[in-house]
Amino acid sequence: MRLRTALVGCGKVGHLHARALARLPESQFVAACDASAERAADFAARYGVAPFTDVRTMLRSAKVQAVCIATPHPLHAAPAIAAAEAGAHVLVEKPLAASLADGDAMLAAAARAGVMLAAVSQRRLFEPVRRVRAAIAAGQIGRPALGVVAMFNWRDEAYYRSDPWRGKWATEGGGVLVNQAPHQLDLLCWLMDDAIAEVSGYWANLNHPTIEVEDTAVALVRFRQGGLASITVSVSQKPGLFTKVHIHGTSGASVGVETDSGPSFIAGVSSVAAPPLNDLWTVPGEEHLLAQFQAEDRAHFAAIDATAHYHELQVRDFLQAILERRPPLVTGEEARTVVALITAVYRSQRERRPIPFPLAADMTS
Ligand SMILES: NC(=O)c1ccc[n+]([C@@H]2O[C@H](COP(=O)([O-])OP(=O)(O)OC[C@H]3O[C@@H](n4cnc5c(N)ncnc54)[C@H](O)[C@@H]3O)[C@@H](O)[C@H]2O)c1
Repeated sequence: MRLRTALVGCGKVGHLHARALARLPESQFVAACDASAERAADFAARYGVAPFTDVRTMLRSAKVQAVCIATPHPLHAAPAIAAAEAGAHVLVEKPLAASLADGDAMLAAAARAGVMLAAVSQRRLFEPVRRVRAAIAAGQIGRPALGVVAMFNWRDEAYYRSDPWRGKWATEGGGVLVNQAPHQLDLLCWLMDDAIAEVSGYWANLNHPTIEVEDTAVALVRFRQGGLASITVSVSQKPGLFTKVHIHGTSGASVGVETDSGPSFIAGVSSVAAPPLNDLWTVPGEEHLLAQFQAEDRAHFAAIDATAHYHELQVRDFLQAILERRPPLVTGEEARTVVALITAVYRSQRERRPIPFPLAADMTS
């Protein structure tokens, strides 16, 4: 069976969704919507679908059953809620929303309508990430005890000027925490496999005077079962160096992945230039496998278009989850955790205190 699918947000990452929706056997790609009539028409011509500038009109007249949302962060909620109210399942780009209030409204709308709300975090599908997750699930490091996220990335002024919404609190919702880091924050929470108990954090703008939002943030996380994590995420290193997620276990063994080597890719501007690789593997008796894992992943990387491949896998998981009536790879609830973590860092700096979880939306963040 094929689902009637549509896209909202015909911008840079929108192409990755459109390509997947046009190719996948579970999808009958029928419509594309953008606030700009020109962009909607361009996508419509390119992918052979109907163009729209109004989400509700599209959902109704194209009888959409599943929709991908790839609008700027503060504009995820409105089309997601409209889709849920029209009975369509929703896959939303990261982060779920730019605020907890938006995220909660999306979750409530999906629950009311009985539709799926899923979120993009395509790095979960990277082979070296799956390997880390499988080792943790098999108990090969004991319990995950200490997580480390380290992002030393770069974004230049041209990047922030490329779209009017970038770099501003009102239209981007935040900086590195909201835009670049959600991938690794999601991996951290997924791999630590525990609920957050408390977050302390700081953020700053170190060397991007032309933007309002933070280019750097550091945070400490305490998990319910006593695990800890440190987070340093920045787009201030020129050139971009690396982005890594390492998990150290109670047994003393460690597993880790360099998700991005050099600066992370910019959808529609650059492609994934180097393979994600395991860079740490001290599981007893398996230390020698690190070189083999890297060789396998280099060979796989050479055989795929990594920029599009993992989005396609995630869109496929979303469509198959609907058809199989099972949860998607990344649920709306899991994606809310990332928004809560980001919100807690902002709140911790503002209120000069550790922020206890669970976190509710408030009027100021
Ligand atoms: N998963 C990834 O690797 C990845 C990569 C890049 C971007 N993203 C995410 O995708 C989203 C979009 O990023 P982008 O770089 O493609 O931005 P973009 O500016 O290139 O595209 C956004 C599009 O949304 C359209 N739009 C704005 N408001 C709209 C509305 N109300 N209704 C319909 N269309 C509307 C804009 O006209 C534009 O065409 C963001 O959430 C971003 O974080 C994810």
